[in-house]
Amino acid sequence: MPATIINGLEISEKILAEIKNEKIEIEKKYNKVPGLVTILVGNNPASASYVSLKIKTANSLGFKEVQVNLEDNVSEKELLSVIEQYNDDDSIHGILVQLPLPKHINEKNVIYAINPDKDVDCFHPLNIGKVVLGQDDVNFFPCTPAGILELMKAAGIKINGADAVIIGRSNIVGKPLANMLIKKSENATVTVLHTGTKDMESYCKKADIIIVAAGSPKVLKTEWIKPGACIIDVGTNRVGEKISKKTGKPIAILKGDVDFEEASKVAGYITPVPGGVGPMTITMLMKNTLYSLKYKLGLMQ
Ligand code: GUN
Repeated sequence: MPATIINGLEISEKILAEIKNEKIEIEKKYNKVPGLVTILVGNNPASASYVSLKIKTANSLGFKEVQVNLEDNVSEKELLSVIEQYNDDDSIHGILVQLPLPKHINEKNVIYAINPDKDVDCFHPLNIGKVVLGQDDVNFFPCTPAGILELMKAAGIKINGADAVIIGRSNIVGKPLANMLIKKSENATVTVLHTGTKDMESYCKKADIIIVAAGSPKVLKTEWIKPGACIIDVGTNRVGEKISKKTGKPIAILKGDVDFEEASKVAGYITPVPGGVGPMTITMLMKNTLYSLKYKLGLMQ
């Protein structure tokens, strides 16, 4: 039987509708709307396209959305002063600096400069530290890992007691996701595979859940998948361009890190690319921005 496709678009639409309703209620009661600033440095087409999706989603929810586009050669000092400006702006509850940044800018300095209360990406060490410790005063969860958990829960995947393998140890996905999955509330047994792993096959073959976030297509061989396993594909590899039927403009052709056609014949559940993890990441960013306003209004612990 072919794998059940976990439809990230459908699941994210449902969550976005909930966020929109909550935003409307808060606006009625407190006359405040969530505010998000997106800061894009340079013109990397992939980054520009992600940011424009984030802006579009924020607008569709009626959030305040501020776009800052900075030249490729902007100095680190100038970028830090823009962040400072929005740290001090009471109408802004989320500050997102799209990564990666040009090489002359120190990413760590930029992440550290964001007020942790407005760090809706959950990249600041204070926020990520709380996630790692599994503390109950976590403000935000990182968007892609949080989206993956929502997808699995919506699809009814059994996480408790599952053997989960994560391929990729990035700060954005692999590391936080591993920590979130081993929390008592999720209770998975997690193995993180990376470029130094000697025998990926042996780990994958045992896994009930495989999350592939390697940034490299076909890193997971179909013959390594245990029949019935849940495969979550975080990859977004741009493999070409096509003309959009909707807009008539060129758009990127995206492929995941998994051979979807082949893997679907063995897996029990699988996420597509596009339409799987991607929309959930953006949805979780909106949720974090709403939460940030709710914390400020004292509506959350
Ligand atoms: N670059 C790739 N993914 C992300 C993300 O989730 N947030 C930001 N800020 N940059 C990214």
